[in-house]
Amino acid sequence: MRHLRVPSAETQDWLALCRSSHWLVTTSGVVRLDGGFRGIPLMENAPDETDACWKGHVHIESEGKGKGPVHWTERLPEALQELPPETWPSAYEIQGDVLIVKLEGAAAVYGESIAEAMLEQLPNIRVICADEGVKGDFRVRDLDIIKTRDGTEHTRTRVREHGHFVWVDPAKAYFSTRLSSEREKTLTSVQNLRIRLDRPLVIADPYAGVGPAFPLLFAEPGLIEGCLAGDLNPDAVDLLRLNIEYWQSRRSDGPLNQVEAICADALQWSDTPSLLGQADVLLVNLPHNSLEHLPDLLPLLRRGEPVLIRGWAIREREHLAEDTDNLQRLLYDHDAKDIVVDLAEIKGFSTSKCFVAFECNFTL
Ligand SMILES: C[S@@+](CC[C@H](N)C(=O)[O-])C[C@H]1O[C@@H](n2cnc3c(N)ncnc32)[C@H](O)[C@@H]1O
Repeated sequence: MRHLRVPSAETQDWLALCRSSHWLVTTSGVVRLDGGFRGIPLMENAPDETDACWKGHVHIESEGKGKGPVHWTERLPEALQELPPETWPSAYEIQGDVLIVKLEGAAAVYGESIAEAMLEQLPNIRVICADEGVKGDFRVRDLDIIKTRDGTEHTRTRVREHGHFVWVDPAKAYFSTRLSSEREKTLTSVQNLRIRLDRPLVIADPYAGVGPAFPLLFAEPGLIEGCLAGDLNPDAVDLLRLNIEYWQSRRSDGPLNQVEAICADALQWSDTPSLLGQADVLLVNLPHNSLEHLPDLLPLLRRGEPVLIRGWAIREREHLAEDTDNLQRLLYDHDAKDIVVDLAEIKGFSTSKCFVAFECNFTL
């Protein structure tokens, strides 16, 4: 849990400020820290560490000092606590102040009581939603709002990833924290290409969703000069625009020269002449179709200088060597030179399929 670290003598003043600003986690206590400091537990909505309101005091991650019940099920009505423990969902997902839970079997009947207990236990949560699976072409979650803390009946919220805020709406656009370590690897690969080219880069992400690949790239001074991002889902593009505007405003070296947030089918980007040959880096995250879409995306890459593709796909585990060869052949057939392709499993998907990340370095 995030804590504000303050000198012990200032604890009461900072507690009062955090309480009156609704930033204080009331179910967790003040933590004693080394060197005569105290940690004040902060809600998710509290401004980030760089905000002037903290007067330079740092934020640290520390385990909360629990007060009261340790698990939400202990807050269920007494009669329900008699039911077998396996009645209750054992897992849930949190995005910002939205909690998403699958209510299966007997739990479905007790949705209201579950939501009430969870809201009481988890002070950072505003709304509890039942997860009814995925729906529609954009495979967004079908969420049923069970209960809200403050009457606001929506699921738009902000998550913090690698210290940066990202607007998301789990009922309207795809977002998952599962690829957050991959986004760090993208940063490293982009940094390496930046060193090789000795100039800021242009990044194309035609399946950007709400844009989680970008905050790390925007935040690094001098790393990128352009962002060509898009999605076919108009709701995702609305959030993407909001996010880009926010990340732009936080850049220490001023806004980027070239920014596009495009609502279109990625396969049609290459019909727009102004998008051709612009990108130094291409991100391809449409896991069921990434490799199949790749040929249509190659015209977006800059010619005559080293470029980078990073992508993610769901593939048959026993055909990964073939996939690597096919990627190499595709680039070779497009007259690419100095081709280096790496494709490797990053996690399982089913008994025969796995989730892979691939990276291609080459010059067109
Ligand atoms: C797996 S999500 C990845 C989103 C984002 N890159 C991320 O990592 O969170 C795939 C995204 O591609 C979008 N999409 C699906 N088909 C598309 C297409 N033909 N052109 C552009 N976007 C598409 C979906 O709406 C979805 O937001």
